[in-house]
Amino acid sequence: MAKSILVTGGAGYIGSHTVLQLLLGGYRTVVVDNLDNSSEISVRRVKELAGDLGKNLLFHKVDLRDKQALEKVFASTPFDTVIHFAGLKAVGESVQKPLLYYDNNLIGTITLLEVMAAHGCKKLVFSSSATVYGWPKEVPCTEEFPLSAANPYGRTKLFIEEICRDTYRSDSEWKIILLRYFNPVGAHHSGYIGEDPRGIPNNLMPFVQQVAVGRRPALTVFGTDYATKDGTGVRDYIHVVDLADGHIAALRKLDAAGIGCEVYNLGTGKGTSVLEMVAAFEKASGKKIPLVMSARRPGDAEIVYASTHKAEKELNWKAKYGIEEMCRDQWNWASKNPYGYEPPSSK
Ligand code: UD1
Repeated sequence: MAKSILVTGGAGYIGSHTVLQLLLGGYRTVVVDNLDNSSEISVRRVKELAGDLGKNLLFHKVDLRDKQALEKVFASTPFDTVIHFAGLKAVGESVQKPLLYYDNNLIGTITLLEVMAAHGCKKLVFSSSATVYGWPKEVPCTEEFPLSAANPYGRTKLFIEEICRDTYRSDSEWKIILLRYFNPVGAHHSGYIGEDPRGIPNNLMPFVQQVAVGRRPALTVFGTDYATKDGTGVRDYIHVVDLADGHIAALRKLDAAGIGCEVYNLGTGKGTSVLEMVAAFEKASGKKIPLVMSARRPGDAEIVYASTHKAEKELNWKAKYGIEEMCRDQWNWASKNPYGYEPPSSK
């Protein structure tokens, strides 16, 4: 009998790509999502992309803070593991509305853990972020680096990591993997699913993509005086399909003996500057991206990239794609869906 996996936030960018890999890997998958920052169309498209295996996907519009609704989902299916993506993620908004972020991300997670425990499901994969490394003193970032957070969004990631560690300490039946994502970009090679942020994109590649399709006039480059090869910030961009596969590797690891609460970086181990990324995107798309050179964005680090050693060794997982493929697939999605999942009139 195939295992059933609950995916919270499964309609979102990383969630939808992971759900597709789960279905293709033979798992039964139930998605819960409140659709606050995502579209149900992504779930429909994932179902189509999965072909016959699409029948193993169920969707419930549920907010994790609605305990009764969540109870019903758990009563309907015995889950082997929960993959928990659901959460708000805009750094600037989190500074303006910290209580919204603490309520949504922390209360949502606590409610989820309570309902899981009540139903005897004690295996969890949680979406953490490289944001917990703050401005690292050195690179590559290893999982043992000191942790910090510069804003409420980052603090929710940090707090949830601690909540998970405490939960395991209180009850050793729990098996938890915390995945620290570096910078996910790109899209499924079909161009049928991809990232579709609401409002003005905060992150580099969604912004670049909107410039390329003519929705915005130019990219503002935040900071040209960093101590990097060309003065712009350096990050570890990872193809979202590689990231999705990292979750399948984590699921396999959860079945290994002796797992308690473990943390893994999911990155490529390679640093790329903003200007290098823009150049790679221009090459892949044939579009010129006009640039406006500007001051540093408050809270940004100079250089962040992952040590991939632990994930390679213990999860037996390694990213396959480079920035060329990331940009090719990002452009394929953007050119086929210039306004994301829904045309402007319906947004
Ligand atoms: C940002 C968040 C981080 C979050 C991550 C994933 C901040 C300070 N950090 O990380 O907490 O976990 O997204 O959601 O917001 N850039 C530009 N112009 C733009 C956008 C970005 O030059 O319009 C530059 C940035 O300065 C940076 C690089 O591009 O050097 C990547 O930025 P971004 O995609 O926002 O990711 P992070 O800053 O790594």
